[in-house]
Amino acid sequence: MEELLDIYKTISKKEVTIWFEAAKVSDFPKNGGACIKYKDKQIAVFNFERKNTWYACQNVCPHKMEMVLSRGMIGDQNGIPKVACPMHKKTFSLDNGKNLDGDLSPIATYPVKIENSIVYIGFAE
Ligand code: FES
Repeated sequence: MEELLDIYKTISKKEVTIWFEAAKVSDFPKNGGACIKYKDKQIAVFNFERKNTWYACQNVCPHKMEMVLSRGMIGDQNGIPKVACPMHKKTFSLDNGKNLDGDLSPIATYPVKIENSIVYIGFAE
């Protein structure tokens, strides 16, 4: 179980060494998420159109290790963009990964950039 989480580490924009071409903007639902794969990682990518911002995080929920966060509802909690896990509704900040309604481990978050209608996710390796 622990190893599953070990492969996910938050990457800040300045740490990025590779921008992975994930998919076209039009492949993602508006105000929703989709899962992409990068090597052994499943990454949830969210098009938060209401805020005109994109977010990416690990797809695995640290509650029961389910690969489900890309199917979570996104929203806003006092200005903090968040995703609610579809299983038991635990919520996580999409800014820094913090569990907003409990003391679960934070989720790893990744930078996203859009260029020429293509979505790129930043990794460091
Ligand atoms: S598996 Fe995500 S809240 Fe339980």
